[in-house]
Amino acid sequence: MLKQLEELKLNALQELESISNIKELDLWRVCYLGKKSNLTRILRRLATLPLAERKAVGTYANEVKVYLDDSLKQKERVLREVQLAVSAKREAIDITLPGRPFPVGHLHPITQTVYEICDIFVSMGFQVVEGPEVEWDYYNFEALNIPKEHPARDTMSTSWVDFETESGDRPMLLRTHTTSISARIIETMPPSIRVVIPGKVYRYEASDATHTPMFYQIDGQVVDKGITMAELKGTLYEFARRFFGEDRKVRFRCDYFPFVEPGVEMAIECSVCGGAGCRLCGNTGWIEILGAGMTHPKVLERGGFDPEVYTGFAFGMGIDRMPMLRYGIDDIRLFYSSDLRFLRQF
Ligand code: DAH
Repeated sequence: MLKQLEELKLNALQELESISNIKELDLWRVCYLGKKSNLTRILRRLATLPLAERKAVGTYANEVKVYLDDSLKQKERVLREVQLAVSAKREAIDITLPGRPFPVGHLHPITQTVYEICDIFVSMGFQVVEGPEVEWDYYNFEALNIPKEHPARDTMSTSWVDFETESGDRPMLLRTHTTSISARIIETMPPSIRVVIPGKVYRYEASDATHTPMFYQIDGQVVDKGITMAELKGTLYEFARRFFGEDRKVRFRCDYFPFVEPGVEMAIECSVCGGAGCRLCGNTGWIEILGAGMTHPKVLERGGFDPEVYTGFAFGMGIDRMPMLRYGIDDIRLFYSSDLRFLRQF
């Protein structure tokens, strides 16, 4: 019986040696240490043996059982470690693998243009300010020297907000120009004032290749002692040089805006024909890009400035036209159609 146990132990250990996974190990356990294993059977039969043999076989059988139990535990530990190492290796992040490309967008061409224009004025000492798009009639018209019944109101088809005062007035609107914020600035900001005001403006108009009911403008306003037409021309000329290129010709002509006196319009030489005349410039060789002028004394006065002491100049331009001129885009609606085939080009 002892010999049988010895053989059993040797066999078990030999087999254990060649086991390489947990599943096999479990089969091994059932085979050598399970309820139906030879070892268990021997242990169960101990009671039937003669006393002397019982002692010797019992002691040895128990020794074998403990030994096999320990060997099993150790093998299990080794196998689990190997398994862990393998799965860790399999799951490890391969940092050399290139990631999936993420679709990165970019700023809208209009936003790019706003930033570019603001940057130019900021470099000349201007500050960028913004204000409400839903505006009072007062700031959009009255404070800018455009009283009720003034014909200038007709040139800016207005979207009125459905809000009536007790007296039946409709004083709220979607601002028709960023000049409305200029009126607010003059009222609240201490001198010296040097601001540019970019933003959306609204006109009650149908869309076509050159009009949309919403578009972008940027206004400028300067108020200080000793500001003259020379500052106006110098500043705007410098802007045109920086934005359109060093050798682009610039032209100032008289124009009328109720909130400036005198008023001017500024044009640049046509980029397509170089001044010879073409379809883009309507055969004039010039393209008007902005309105400007010396801030009207009434506007200054209403904002709390003494026009005998303080003077100022202002300008306002449409932003959408700038990239249209620069890139030869012939339909303003492309900017607002969210067509990525168009937008991705900028
Ligand atoms: N607000 C005018 C418009 O929408 C443009 C303009 C002209 C703005 C002259 C000014 C200015 O500040 O001085 O058509």
